[in-house]
Amino acid sequence: MMKLIVHDDYEAMSAAAAQWLVDRIRTRPAMLACLAAGSTPTRAYELFVEWSRRTPELFDELRLIALDEWGGLSAEDPGSCQFQLRREVVAPLGMNERFLEFDGDAPNLQAECDRVADWLSRHGPIDACVLGLGINGHLGFNEPADSLQPHAHVTPLAATSLGHAMVRDLAAKPAFGMTLGMADLLNAREVLLLVSGQQKGPALRALLHGPLTTAFPASLLHLHSSVTLICDGSAYAALAADI
Ligand code: GLP
Repeated sequence: MMKLIVHDDYEAMSAAAAQWLVDRIRTRPAMLACLAAGSTPTRAYELFVEWSRRTPELFDELRLIALDEWGGLSAEDPGSCQFQLRREVVAPLGMNERFLEFDGDAPNLQAECDRVADWLSRHGPIDACVLGLGINGHLGFNEPADSLQPHAHVTPLAATSLGHAMVRDLAAKPAFGMTLGMADLLNAREVLLLVSGQQKGPALRALLHGPLTTAFPASLLHLHSSVTLICDGSAYAALAADI
């Protein structure tokens, strides 16, 4: 079931997202949270970290896993998911040993995905999965395709993904992405999907009103029993304007 919540603006959406995460830690202190990179969750992460300053003991057992990574980008590269998540969440929370990430710079990307898949099979499932929505409907780098992969894997990137702000100005664009698979996301106990900005309007419409199809991977979230979709007013207005 997908519960839709619309907030006036990005700030209110982010505050609700941070609160959602904090509520989950309260219920399950050692929870495994999967975190997306990208611009959408940035403010939510900042507010989440502020919570940790007020109640640090709440975060003592929290575990994190990164959703995805650009193949070929290292943790030192400002465009990498590792760089963003370490800077915005992992370093401020001081929890390096409780964070599992894809090493985008690994010599063998498939072996790196196998390592992550093996870890998740032993330490999962994900308890709380924070996702952003690609303009093409991707989740992580589960890109639109005839079929989708269940677990961590290396994948070609869609043209829209290569136009993402994290990598669009790079001289050498990543050839592949690394991502948790659709089954990993659908096996999460709870999912939080964040959608912000008018450019996401068409994707939000496809998600809410379109068919269930691997050509729009986010649509498979309708199969999940507990998805909270929080969007801001500009994404929701763009959805309504186009109907
Ligand atoms: C990126 C990442 C996703 C992210 C999504 C949305 O390409 N692979 O993890 O959630 O696309 O990004 P943004 O929030 O910047 O729109």
